Amino acid sequence: MRIFSGIQPTGDKHLGNYIGGFRQYAATQELGEAFFCIVDLHSITVDYEPRDLHDRTLDLYAMLVATGLDPERSTVFAQSHVTAHAESSWLLSAVTSYGQLGRMTQFKDKSERRDFVSAGLFTYPVLMAGDILLYQTDRVPIGDDQRQHLELSRDIAERFNARFGETFVVPEGIYPEVGARIMDLQEPTRKMSTTGGSEQGTVRLLDETDVILKKFRSAVTDSGREIRRGDDKPGITNLLDIFSVATGKPPGQIEVEYEHVGYGQFKSDVGEAVAAMLAPVRERYLELRADEGELLRLLALGADKARAASAPTLRRMYERMGFVHLG
Ligand code: TYM
Repeated sequence: MRIFSGIQPTGDKHLGNYIGGFRQYAATQELGEAFFCIVDLHSITVDYEPRDLHDRTLDLYAMLVATGLDPERSTVFAQSHVTAHAESSWLLSAVTSYGQLGRMTQFKDKSERRDFVSAGLFTYPVLMAGDILLYQTDRVPIGDDQRQHLELSRDIAERFNARFGETFVVPEGIYPEVGARIMDLQEPTRKMSTTGGSEQGTVRLLDETDVILKKFRSAVTDSGREIRRGDDKPGITNLLDIFSVATGKPPGQIEVEYEHVGYGQFKSDVGEAVAAMLAPVRERYLELRADEGELLRLLALGADKARAASAPTLRRMYERMGFVHLG
């Protein structure tokens, strides 16, 4: 079985990325042949600092390894090092509907808040479809916010297969059972994000323990006193999900254990559990990040493996679409 997922190097990585992304990557690499891509080409679709992109890419590589990816076993690489990604994006744009791209909620959200909306922000999901389809991917571990993009990738694969002949596996998403959408601690009706969320409500993976504890202690809760999940309790539901992931206990069991406990105690316990979960990740990250030469060696290794794995599909795409092959 082939597994593929991608993550953007820009924007500080946060607890939502950890739960919907990193944690799932480490678990799914056990399922088969796995590819994890630092999607640097996606990061240029919104305003960014060229000087930062380089460092952020290495930061993210170190974080992927610190959270459990084994670069010798899985293929971990940067998108810009494998030109097949940019090429496949152009080819797939021929079978992507303009109307469907305009209906992507991420495009609508991100384009609303900007003066300058790049064409790349609009065609972003086509590049993402290419990422996935080039590797004949069966499963894509992602958070809930990427569901619509994955559905579009499936539509693109089906349309290409129907128009040019069977070429792609049609991929399926894998979403975490608990924590597929981690919400901002201050505004639990919007997803946690370093680009759109609140400073105090976003837990960064590299936050120090005291900062993490403080953010949880000041988390917004709901009316009432009960610690239970429910649509009327977005704040407590989010904290229960996070606690469940950090302790490995099902949310229902936590509800029972916290039946007679107040919100204040609950919030500090969640903070303690998250801080304990992230402390070893931070430590490992700092160690890995210190050896830039090794990170570059691993990136080159990943690029070689990814080029070899994607080349046959790209070649087939050109052939099926009727381009002249020079042998
Ligand atoms: P990105 O970089 O925004 O996020 C990386 C992963 O983190 C998940 N995630 C969350 N999960 C739970 N709660 C949250 N609040 C939360 N915020 C983010 C995301 O769902 C994602 O799994 N377009 C993608 C990157 C991409 C990609 C791909 C993913 C490019 N090509 C191919 C899969 C396959 C993105 O911007 O993710």
